[in-house]
Formats: sequence, C-alpha cells, structure tokens
Amino acid sequence: MSKNIVIIGATSAIAQATLRLYAESQDNLYLLGRNQEQLETIAADARVRGANEVHTAVLDVNEFATHESTLNPIFDIFKTVDLALIAHGTLPNQPACEKDVHLTMTELSTNGISTISLLTLLANRFEQQQKGCIAVITSVAGDRGRQSNYVYGAAKGMVSIFLQGLRNRLYDHKVQVLDIKPGFVDTPMTADFKKGALWAKPEQIAKSIVKAIDKKQNKTLYTPLFWMGIMFIIRNIPEGIFKRLKL
Ligand SMILES: NC(=O)c1ccc[n+]([C@@H]2O[C@H](COP(=O)([O-])OP(=O)(O)OC[C@H]3O[C@@H](n4cnc5c(N)ncnc54)[C@H](OP(=O)(O)O)[C@@H]3O)[C@@H](O)[C@H]2O)c1
Repeated sequence: MSKNIVIIGATSAIAQATLRLYAESQDNLYLLGRNQEQLETIAADARVRGANEVHTAVLDVNEFATHESTLNPIFDIFKTVDLALIAHGTLPNQPACEKDVHLTMTELSTNGISTISLLTLLANRFEQQQKGCIAVITSVAGDRGRQSNYVYGAAKGMVSIFLQGLRNRLYDHKVQVLDIKPGFVDTPMTADFKKGALWAKPEQIAKSIVKAIDKKQNKTLYTPLFWMGIMFIIRNIPEGIFKRLKL
C-alpha cells in the first residue's frame, strides 16, 4: 500500500534524493519548500518516477504564523501521515554571525526554532494518529560547539535535544522519532568546500535514511555510520584540551 509522506525543505539535495526513493516505491508525496517553481519541477520528476499522488505547498519556514495553516491541509488530504521528514537548513557564515546579532538570530531561527515550531505541531498530530515516523535532518555539528560553526551547531544541537524529549514522549504512542545526523555531504550547501575521503553523496545519505525508517529505528542515526565513532571521540576530548584546538 502507498505510504503518505510529507517532506519539508523538499528542494534540499538530501531531501530530493530521499523523495526519489519514495517516488519509486509509488508512495504519495506532499512536498513543501519556499520555491514554488522548483517544487513543481521536483513534483513532475517524482510523478515520472512512479509517485502515486504528489502535492506541493509553499512554506518559508521562518514565517511561523503560516506553519499551522500550511500543515492542516496535509492532514485533511492524507488523513494519516506515515512519515514527516524535515530537511531544510542553511550553513551560516560563522564570522559574519559574530558581527551581526540579527544574522545570528535568523540562522538560529532557520536551523533551530523553525524546526521546533513545526515539530510542536506535527507531534500533536502524530500523537493522535498513534503511528508514523517523524524524521529530522540535524547534523553531527550539533554534538559539540566548535569555533568554526557554533551558531549552526547550537541550532542543530537544540533540535537534537528537542527530538530526544519528543521520542521519549511519543514512545508510548507508537510514534518513531528519528534524528538524522549526517557528516559532510556534497550538496549545494557545501558547494564551496574542498571534498575529501570523509564526504558522502546525497544518494548515500538518502538510502540510509529510508533504511532506518523502514527498520523502525527510533534513535539518532549517524550517517555514514563512521561518524558515530568520530563524534564519540570529539565529544570525549576533555574541555581543557578541546578549547585549545582550532576546529
Ligand atoms: N550538506 C551537508 O554537509 C550537511 C551535513 C549535515 C547536515 N546537513 C543538513 O541536511 C539538510 C539538507 O541540506 P542539504 O545538504 O541537502 O543542503 P541544500 O541542498 O542546500 O538544502 C537546503 C534546503 O533548505 C531550504 N531552506 C533554507 N532556508 C529555508 C527557509 N527559510 N524556508 C524554507 N526552506 C528553506 C533551501 O531552500 P531553497 O532551495 O529555496 O534555498 C534548500 O532546499 C539541512 O538541514 C542541513 O543542515 C547537511
């Protein structure tokens, strides 16, 4: 039977790679993003790949007042949502944030607060349904603050802590809460970075996301898996040493 899948930030490279897999499984898709034209192109591609129904809606995640009115029609159409995947994000310019409070607040909003607003609304719907999966792409950057990207890390870390609490709350309601923590992924977000051995492609991340959701994993997913080991080491470096490192 076709699953009902909602993707927020559907224009992201990782989201697109993921939704292509669901399209090939002939699932029903509801795609949200801030660029209508791009959403329509992605929706048309999903239909060609085999998606059953494909709906789109415009959502700028920083427009909090529109969150509820944008999410409500999804539940009118689908009745039950099997998966809500939140994928939007930006990679802040850390030095620029250090000089500009407004920019820092906007980045925290895009990468943290907006997701928490959406999760608050989605959680109540999933709690009522007593089934389904809420999955969010956070980042390994949320595991420990580093001088090169602590605004991004703080926002992602906030979402990860929120998801821990949500998983605990929704456990008895049979709702899966998956925190997806990718390492370095070759997408438009990281276009300016020099790529190396630690880098993954969006398709690889997408496969691991779908696999974890299918296996009903109710946890934090480091992807690729070797990031679990790297972040274990990073988290356990004593602060007295860590504060001296140029990371
Ligand atoms: N790439 C990495 O190395 C990496 C590593 C760890 C985690 N992540 C996370 O993975 C997720 C997907 O990122 P990606 O790598 O696939 O990058 P991406 O292709 O650049 O996608 C980012 C997406 O976020 C959307 N977005 C940004 N601000 C928005 C807003 N205010 N309202 C609605 N949508 C907004 C963008 O929409 P527009 O196209 O309209 O700008 C874009 O579709 C993000 O949460 C990112 O933080 C990425």
